[in-house]
Amino acid sequence: MKICCIGAGYVGGPTMAMIACKCPDIEVVVVDISVSRINAWNSDCLPIFEPGLNEVIRSRRGRNLFFSSDVEAHVADAQIIFVSVNTPTKTRGLGAGKAANLTYWESAARMIANVSTSDKIVVEKSTVPVKTAEAIEKILTHNSRGLRFDIVSNPEFLAEDTAVQDLAAPD
Ligand SMILES: NC(=O)c1ccc[n+]([C@@H]2O[C@H](COP(=O)([O-])OP(=O)(O)OC[C@H]3O[C@@H](n4cnc5c(N)ncnc54)[C@H](O)[C@@H]3O)[C@@H](O)[C@H]2O)c1
Repeated sequence: MKICCIGAGYVGGPTMAMIACKCPDIEVVVVDISVSRINAWNSDCLPIFEPGLNEVIRSRRGRNLFFSSDVEAHVADAQIIFVSVNTPTKTRGLGAGKAANLTYWESAARMIANVSTSDKIVVEKSTVPVKTAEAIEKILTHNSRGLRFDIVSNPEFLAEDTAVQDLAAPD
């Protein structure tokens, strides 16, 4: 079983590290279009600080936890894809100051459809409006040459500063 997470940010990094830690038999690859971010995750100087994160990363990185900028190859290979890309608040147009900008999410969905050659479970980790899963399912199934995509909503409630502790002992 292989999991790929698109987006090596504040959510993707710690969440996937904890999954790798709790599930040593599952290969977990976190991918990002930002090469500098991936390089930082692969270094001794992680791109974010969270108490306990260093230890979790060190225990699994290179074993069943990997960080890579080869986004398409790992997405194509995985059975489960978490999408944890940024969804900033819109600064102009309809919903400016309130609605989420889904550009990055939609672009990730199109890429998943383009590179997939097997059925996939796609997990929404980003903060997105209700019914986004339906829109994403349309993007995926219309572009996917008959493959099956199951969309799962698993929104993140991560709190910066206690991320590792909260992931290890969730409510
Ligand atoms: N940070 C938090 O505390 C927090 C808490 C709860 C929910 N969230 C939500 O989780 C989501 C992710 O937040 P974050 O803080 O991790 O964001 P972030 O900005 O730290 O990281 C997002 C990453 O996604 C990458 N990315 C964007 N498009 C991509 C693509 N097509 N392919 C590959 N990589 C791509 C970016 O390069 C970036 O590194 C957002 O929707 C956010 O609202 C964040």
